[in-house]
Amino acid sequence: MRRFFWGVVVTLLILIALPLVLLGTGVFNMAATEGPGALETTLATWTVDRSVKVRAPQEISPVKDDPAAVEAGMVHYRAMCLQCHGAQDVQQHEFAQGLNPPPPDLAAAGKDWSDGELFWITKHGIRMTGMPAFGKSHSDEEIWQIVAFLRKLDNLSASQVAALREGEEAGHHHDHDAHEAGNQEAVAGHDEAADRAEPREAGGEDRLSEVEGETPYQR
Ligand code: HEC
Repeated sequence: MRRFFWGVVVTLLILIALPLVLLGTGVFNMAATEGPGALETTLATWTVDRSVKVRAPQEISPVKDDPAAVEAGMVHYRAMCLQCHGAQDVQQHEFAQGLNPPPPDLAAAGKDWSDGELFWITKHGIRMTGMPAFGKSHSDEEIWQIVAFLRKLDNLSASQVAALREGEEAGHHHDHDAHEAGNQEAVAGHDEAADRAEPREAGGEDRLSEVEGETPYQR
């Protein structure tokens, strides 16, 4: 009996120690330039899929097909998603080409998910990938607006494409103030960031300016 006990203990120690020794050799290449193997891709994709599916809300979007929500969602998309995900005839930003895993084309990838799942992913992000959680800086209402726009990504009008490209959605700013009336500090912080972004935006070039205004770290 005693022998059996020690056998179990030693086996467990080896089971724990071996992987640690393996990791300690540095055998795993964590470089973003190194693609994952087939096993990792399959396992990780499945893990994310299950994780999202058991947590996502079942409800249908409260702003489904509402044109005003789609329009508001587009402004958010341009400010916060376009850099990585791109859109029809709009290139992703250069830095996004170095992300691993790569940000997928959401016009196609969005079809794999329900509204609630898109909402959950946008709100909570996907850990250990470049996909940020937008729930830290955005209300549920704003996230539903983004989801409403994601549904239109596969069929953008010429003017929507032009607006995404040029960053010149006339009269629209990435404005959170209306939704954050209760949070004076955030409103003040955002105003400041928006003001800074204004002149650069007028140049029509620097799409990142609004994203900078978006990060909680600037507040
Ligand atoms: C900094 C880059 C970056 C930004 C900005 C970004 N994403 Fe992502 N996103 C990613 C990456 C990388 C993935 C792939 C994650 C993976 O493979 O599991 C991803 C995955 C997703 C997915 C899951 C797609 C799928 O089928 O795997 C959705 C939905 C999504 N993003 C929506 C958004 C929305 C909406 C925004 C803006 C509010 C946004 N993303 C902004 C990098 C980004």
